[in-house]
Amino acid sequence: MISVLKGMKDRHSDDVRKYDFIVDTAKKVFSKYGFERIITPILEETELFRRSVGDETDVVSKEMYEFKDKGNRSVSMRPEGTAGVVRAYLEAGLHKSDPIVKWFYNGPMYRYEAPQKGRYREFHQVGAEIFGIRSPYLDAEIIRMGCEFLEKLGITGLTVEINSLGNIESRKKYIEDLKAFMAERLDKLSEDSKKRYEKNPLRALDSKDKGDQEQFKDAPKLYDYLDEESKKYFEDTKKYLELLNIKYVENSKLVRGLDYYSDTVFEIKSDKLGAQATVLAGGRYDRLLEILDNVKIPAIGFAAGMERIAMLMDEKLVENKENGVYVVYFDDTKEYFIKTLEELRKNDIKASFDYNPKSFGAQMKKANKINAEYVLILGEDEQKENVVTLKKFSTGEQEKYSLDEVIEIVK
Ligand code: HAM
Repeated sequence: MISVLKGMKDRHSDDVRKYDFIVDTAKKVFSKYGFERIITPILEETELFRRSVGDETDVVSKEMYEFKDKGNRSVSMRPEGTAGVVRAYLEAGLHKSDPIVKWFYNGPMYRYEAPQKGRYREFHQVGAEIFGIRSPYLDAEIIRMGCEFLEKLGITGLTVEINSLGNIESRKKYIEDLKAFMAERLDKLSEDSKKRYEKNPLRALDSKDKGDQEQFKDAPKLYDYLDEESKKYFEDTKKYLELLNIKYVENSKLVRGLDYYSDTVFEIKSDKLGAQATVLAGGRYDRLLEILDNVKIPAIGFAAGMERIAMLMDEKLVENKENGVYVVYFDDTKEYFIKTLEELRKNDIKASFDYNPKSFGAQMKKANKINAEYVLILGEDEQKENVVTLKKFSTGEQEKYSLDEVIEIVK
């Protein structure tokens, strides 16, 4: 037998009901804030991710599903959604005509990571991106929208963490000083942090290793390197968060794993997920469009992991309420049954039944098992009289009606 690939999963029953509910909730909440859905391909040129997410990040350097297509082009399964959405924005030339765009998306993403609880090789994100606006109120508003989305899914016990990475220049200076700081204590750092020292020192800052955390206690603080404009931007963003009643924690070590961010970054974490605690994450990426296409358009966005949401959401919201009718019939009344079924479906009534009907008792048992609200009984008498017997399961009451009357009642 061939099995599903490691870190991937088939989804059905409750998993799919949850998936649909999450997407429907995103649509409702995000459209209220003016977002429309965008769909982009799963496969993109590898170069897009190298230049946007960043060559040195783990996501690009270690985790991409990258291969040559039949035309010998290097292509990759998207590890995240932002890069493709940015490409779509630039390719549509919207920066020239209608620069302010609010888009959201959902779909599968691929990262060749070591699978564990909450971390998979194929996972799904719901994300939102806004182009054309740089405003601290917008940064607060998008965090507000992320919180509202998670609240509507019945998720509690969340913490919003925020930080500012400043602009790329101030971050460069910071990275130099951080490297100097790390160099002095390299022998005391974990193997992972040693590796990050060369290629991605910022990432070492949020190491989970207790020894590293001790070493980084007195590390230089990014905030001290921000220029005046970035500092004011950050302070204003926090002010608007307070105005919107969003409780947040400032985390000076929050740096994110993708290279394209500047200024505001944020993560919403749960206390119920263990090591992979971040449910929703994002930030501002004002320079990305310039890096990709020399276009000076600011942008901000976030993405939420649907598998992590599914683990946290209120299960009651997606209980399988099998309502509609269960139709009981017999071999002798099969033609009457088929005509009745056609009428029910024409009237958008969900009908369940047995393709090879067994005894009355067996069919009633099945109706009970699927929690049907009504049972329609089509016996020989009903066929002769051209009526149906309707039984309401919750009360046990039953009576004969014409099919039109039944349709009225059930609807
Ligand atoms: P990210 O932090 O890489 O950001 O991913 C966002 C969320 O996707 C994570 O917080 C997590 O919930 C989920 N996620 C990531 N990797 C996995 C995995 N291997 N298994 C399960 N869930 C996972 C981004 O992807 C950015 N594009 C977010 C963004 C949008 N920034 C600006 N706009």
